[in-house]
Amino acid sequence: MINSSSSFVLIVDDNPTNLSILSKTLKSANYKIRMAVDGEEALAMVAYAHPDLILLDVQMPKMDGFEACRRLQADPATQGIPIIFMTALADTENKIQGLSLGAVDYITKPFEPQEVLARVKVHWRLKQLADTLEQRVAQRTDELEKAQLQLVHQEKLSTLGQLVAGVAHEINNPIACVVGNVSAVEDSINDLFDLIDLYRQQFPEPGPTIEASLNTIDLEYLREDLPKLVKSMKDGGDRIVSISQSLRTFSRADSDKKQKFNLAEGIDSTVLILRHRLKANNLRPAIEVIANYGDVPEINCFPGQLNQVFMNILANAIDALDAACVGRTYEELEADPGRIIISTSRSIDLSTVKISIKDNGYGIPNSVKSRIFDHLFTTKEVGKGTGLGLAIAKSIVEETHNGKLICHSAVGEGTEFAIELPV
Ligand SMILES: Nc1ncnc2c1ncn2[C@@H]1O[C@H](COP(=O)(O)OP(=O)(O)O)[C@@H](O)[C@H]1O
Ligand SMILES: [Mg+2]
Repeated sequence: MINSSSSFVLIVDDNPTNLSILSKTLKSANYKIRMAVDGEEALAMVAYAHPDLILLDVQMPKMDGFEACRRLQADPATQGIPIIFMTALADTENKIQGLSLGAVDYITKPFEPQEVLARVKVHWRLKQLADTLEQRVAQRTDELEKAQLQLVHQEKLSTLGQLVAGVAHEINNPIACVVGNVSAVEDSINDLFDLIDLYRQQFPEPGPTIEASLNTIDLEYLREDLPKLVKSMKDGGDRIVSISQSLRTFSRADSDKKQKFNLAEGIDSTVLILRHRLKANNLRPAIEVIANYGDVPEINCFPGQLNQVFMNILANAIDALDAACVGRTYEELEADPGRIIISTSRSIDLSTVKISIKDNGYGIPNSVKSRIFDHLFTTKEVGKGTGLGLAIAKSIVEETHNGKLICHSAVGEGTEFAIELPV
């Protein structure tokens, strides 16, 4: 609140002799001094700059010390400034009233310079300690909030990860059975067709019942179409196998130890999970994803968490590209489709790897850019944005992995998020 260069003691007294003695005493101990001659002037000075301590006389013209004290205590901005009353030695009633109004202490007239100094010193120090404590508490609260956020997030991630990994695992056996048997089905179908051919050769005239049945099932068409059907079933099965593998890569349950991780595999699995959002729809053509993976070593990290980072950044890019479609025709968009370019590279001194995720959306205005990593900051409508994605990504990259997450963006030019991780 107050920096040390502006810290000073405010002495309020209508008696010039008192002012002079006090200010000399305090100056000799290197305190900075301001002076006021009544309550009103004191309040005006406090409003202008907060002192670290106030020495306040009781009896003064215009506004007395009690009233000034009452007002200072009533204002949250000045409540914390310690006030020491100055009263006559025998004036017990005034001392009590001053203390009950919130003063921290009193000194008695005539002044004893050593006593004044000792009391001012104690309360000055207490004030410094209280301020530091307040700062610490604020700082710790902030740290706690962050830690809590990360805990909640990790908890969710691990539950979700286990679920997904479990599902992927369960799918594995049945789908392996389907895919594995397709070739056998293909062979059997071919055998059956061969057999039919053989029948036709041996019995060119099978009679009206069989003729009729052949016509109904349209054998020639069947013979062309069935292998295609089987092939598409096989392709579908292969696709499920790769999705299930990706889900397992993506959700690699995070242990408390770091593991070796192939970044390209992680990114690919994340892109695959977001595939449904990349596909063409009635508002826009498909979003192109171009991946240029450099020669990057496996890195030691928490894979599940890094995948979460890729996910958060990619999902934002897709949101931005969706938003950029508004007001443009399908033809315009086809000529200049949404694009996400992902690349990985290694720094020249080989100490870090960089992952860049770049979109050609609208970019981020400067007024927004400074806040995108803040907790709960979102420009999206309620229910769509949580404002947590980038806060989580930043804490995973920078705190958990000692890396850097940087955003480069200019309106009209798109946005790039660069993740730098130590190898
Ligand atoms: N690729 C991007 N293009 C444009 N704006 C972005 C991009 N990524 C993030 N932002 C901005 O940063 C904000 C915060 O992102 P995030 O923390 O993920 O929260 P949310 O996505 O829930 O809004 C977004 O609301 C958006 O304004
Ligand atoms: Mg987001």
